[in-house]
Amino acid sequence: MIIATEFSWNQNGNPFIPIRSFTMQDILLPGRLVKDSWELKVATELDVDPAVEELSDQMNDRQRAAFKDKLQRYVRKSDRELIVAVHGGQTLGLVCVIEQAQFPPRFPEQKASHLRNFACGTQVLVHPSFRKQGVGGSLLARAEHWAHEQGLTGFWIVTHRKADWYKTHFGYQEIHRIDEKGVEKILMAKSFE
Ligand SMILES: CC(C)(COP(=O)(O)OP(=O)(O)OC[C@H]1O[C@@H](n2cnc3c(N)ncnc32)[C@H](O)[C@@H]1OP(=O)(O)O)[C@@H](O)C(=O)NCCC(=O)NCCS
Repeated sequence: MIIATEFSWNQNGNPFIPIRSFTMQDILLPGRLVKDSWELKVATELDVDPAVEELSDQMNDRQRAAFKDKLQRYVRKSDRELIVAVHGGQTLGLVCVIEQAQFPPRFPEQKASHLRNFACGTQVLVHPSFRKQGVGGSLLARAEHWAHEQGLTGFWIVTHRKADWYKTHFGYQEIHRIDEKGVEKILMAKSFE
């Protein structure tokens, strides 16, 4: 779908109306959410399409297809759970938690054995219009709760820019730095014990 945006003037002084693709941003108005008004639920296959539709407006077609593929695997496999935050029928964000995920390449054995019984979180994502209202934190807490209930003893996650968020609000510690094709990522972990 395409939409016409604001009336403007071009370089020749002629009026024109720019046309661009419609994105979810056009209907998702940045909203103030009432605290704890969103529902956290374990996603099923039925939740995948709406989640992709509502959370992928900043992705290109290739990234969107990969995102959908990942979410489908998350809901189909029994060793993991996809948790979505939903408000008024709209997906605000999601997180995936996996019982035993593979460690990054060349991860030191000593560190791996320390995290052996830890769950792994991936794909923590909140729609930009609904950030900084506690949605991401509630998703992470729910994922940790699931891991705890499975008898796992901690949680680890790899992050590019959010190490401070995990450290300050949830007590994670830096375990390892990873160089992924020139991009520095940090493996953060926390023990439940
Ligand atoms: C990381 C991410 C999931 C956080 O989601 P979020 O919903 O904004 O998370 P929260 O609202 O729980 O916390 C974010 C901030 O808002 C603050 N906050 C939480 N509730 C708030 C409220 N009611 N009012 C004001 N601020 C609030 C938190 O204290 C936190 O502050 P900080 O940025 O100074 O640490 C989100 O930024 C995101 O999707 N980023 C892009 C993807 C990404 O980087 N994911 C992490 C991969 S490891």
